[in-house]
Amino acid sequence: MPNGLGCKENSKEKIEEIIMSFQIAIDGPVAAGKGTVARLVASRLGFLYVDTGAMYRASALLGKQKGIDLNNEAALSQEISHSEMMLRNPLLSEQDGRQITVLLNGEDVSWMIRTEEMSRGASIVAQYAEVRKELVKKQQRIAQTTHVVMEGRDITFRVLPDAQMKIYLDASVETRAKRRHQELLSRGVDTAYEQVYKDIEDRDARDMGRKVDPLHVVEGSWVLDTTNLTIEDVVELIATKAKELGAV
Ligand code: DC
Repeated sequence: MPNGLGCKENSKEKIEEIIMSFQIAIDGPVAAGKGTVARLVASRLGFLYVDTGAMYRASALLGKQKGIDLNNEAALSQEISHSEMMLRNPLLSEQDGRQITVLLNGEDVSWMIRTEEMSRGASIVAQYAEVRKELVKKQQRIAQTTHVVMEGRDITFRVLPDAQMKIYLDASVETRAKRRHQELLSRGVDTAYEQVYKDIEDRDARDMGRKVDPLHVVEGSWVLDTTNLTIEDVVELIATKAKELGAV
């Protein structure tokens, strides 16, 4: 019997629900391999890879560009709400080793956000509820219309709580420190292993101890411990499962 509810079932909202994008949400601690895994899975499935950490980094850069103190939560979140952040898989002309292209108000900031200063800045701005709220809105907007593999620290429970696939990518502190140390050495950055290990412990403490949306495993998440797996193994596992769930 047609009634108000019946009408709503044929409404625009319903149609949008039917053509909903396929979302793969990945959370996990620093240096668990989320970025590499998410990028490769996205490329295998033809999805957009969304590095949400890049948006926290871009917010720190925005603060610097506009002369806003990173601890000024109200001013920074307002500036973020008026700014455009665009993420895209690198074009052929942009393939210079970057994993993702980040445009901040039209400017290519893909490399500018990869400095130690922006890494520190990102971890400051990420503490603030208003900043997180603005960035979560932007992230949800991207994932509404595009098939995504989105990675970060709050994707499975805050940004995309209804994602078709939720994954918590983990590895021991020692494994993560070894991988990060190796990666730094390969980029010519000579840091002591003990320092890298300590940095990872510190960042875990900050990510998991944050008042707003601390990193945690959510019910229904597939916890993948990558300590004894290669990147290729992990990508294969996730892509196979995604296909089983109807991703492509
Ligand atoms: O993954 P990354 O190092 O690029 O992240 C930069 C900072 O942003 C880091 O301090 C964690 C934080 N972050 C967050 O709080 N929530 C996310 N969804 C992604 C990153």
